[in-house]
Amino acid sequence: MTELTIAIAKGRLRAEALDLLRSTGLSFSPETLSSRRLAVEDESGRYRLIFVKPADVPVYVEHGIADCGIVGRDVLLESDADLLQPLSLNIGACRIVVAARNDAPLSRFGMLRVATKYPRIAGQHFGARGVAVDLIVLSGSVELAPVLGLADCVVDLVETGRTLQENGLRIIEVITESTARLVVNRASYQLKAEVVGRFLRSLDDNSAKENDR
Ligand code: PRP
Repeated sequence: MTELTIAIAKGRLRAEALDLLRSTGLSFSPETLSSRRLAVEDESGRYRLIFVKPADVPVYVEHGIADCGIVGRDVLLESDADLLQPLSLNIGACRIVVAARNDAPLSRFGMLRVATKYPRIAGQHFGARGVAVDLIVLSGSVELAPVLGLADCVVDLVETGRTLQENGLRIIEVITESTARLVVNRASYQLKAEVVGRFLRSLDDNSAKENDR
């Protein structure tokens, strides 16, 4: 019987999250992982993983459909979900930055047009500086916006820096660092205290080992 359901952010975090879960003793058949199934069980049958869009991880966990989730801090900063965040994990390291075109100075006059998938982070960042911004909310390929004249700059995630570099953009300012977090549903934390606690300890031990390397 499934003891714990864990929501995993699809995309850049998925492979690292699965490696981390494997290192805590969960195992998955290669067929399971290469399939397009969005809900799978580990070989013991005790753990069920669901693969969802990063922004949906907090939604599934808050509603208790998943007991736990693995998702980037960047996503949590944009979310209103009421979740426990007991662990910071050593995966998914990236930065949220302000970036603009290499060949155009960022004008200090008038309304700054900022393209982003992170309207809350961007709004708070510029709001705290008293800079008036026109936020242009996109769902992806944000770096195109300044290149094609839709925006003066972007607030976006940078991991390797390759997307910025290959699109002729440079970092103006780092807003914050982000790594993945383990999030837990409040009711599961109480009602499944033993199994959630065991899972947290196995992840924590593993994070400690990673730190020692
Ligand atoms: C993210 C981010 C950047 C890119 C940064 O996009 O928005 O575009 O990755 O990664 P890098 O620094 O390693 O190049 P993602 O791949 O999630 O796709 P998206 O544009 O569809 O949001």
